[in-house]
Amino acid sequence: MRYRRASLEDVPQIEEMEEEYFAEEAFGRRQIRYLIQSPNTIALTACSNSKVLGYIMGLGRRGSSVVRIYTFCVRKDYRRKGIGTSLLHRLERECQVWFRPQADKASKGGVFSLILEVGESNFAALKFYKDNGFVEFSRIPGYYTDGTTAIRMRKIIALPISVDSR
Ligand SMILES: CC(C)(COP(=O)(O)OP(=O)(O)OC[C@H]1O[C@@H](n2cnc3c(N)ncnc32)[C@H](O)[C@@H]1OP(=O)(O)O)[C@@H](O)C(=O)NCCC(=O)NCCS
Repeated sequence: MRYRRASLEDVPQIEEMEEEYFAEEAFGRRQIRYLIQSPNTIALTACSNSKVLGYIMGLGRRGSSVVRIYTFCVRKDYRRKGIGTSLLHRLERECQVWFRPQADKASKGGVFSLILEVGESNFAALKFYKDNGFVEFSRIPGYYTDGTTAIRMRKIIALPISVDSR
């Protein structure tokens, strides 16, 4: 298993997984390409040889302290093996590097937030996020195409205070 940044070569597999697992909410090829190439996106994959087993994409703006998890998926046959947790932890670590210069300016550790929306009937994902420290902060009725309510969740993460900034 290898974890790495997503590349344009991964687009067909990610597109296929989006269609299979998110149906009407799936991102299309153009959106996936845009996300992978955007400087505002952290897009990571879990791969075995050239097969994409999972991916996570977080979108943020430099200067802001919020990253939104846009899409996150592990192939069905590979779930409950810790791949999702590893992808999330890697995203969190990449975010720390991303937000570091901003925090250094303030000579503080600082904090940043990961936010996301999840369907209220997506019990597996809800359990996954709760177990990983996410907390509900609001709901959006009718958010999804089929009318399902979205639960908005947030995880606030402290940036470690670097030795240099003390
Ligand atoms: C959510 C998702 C990415 C998790 O990936 P994963 O690789 O299966 O996650 P992990 O193996 O790291 O699971 C970690 C923990 O989360 C919880 N969890 C994950 N899936 C669960 C399930 N189906 N039922 C109950 N708890 C679950 C468990 O506590 C699990 O630990 P355990 O296996 O030791 O009990 C995966 O289920 C998925 O791709 N779902 C479909 C797409 C989706 O809903 N994405 C999120 C959109 S908001």
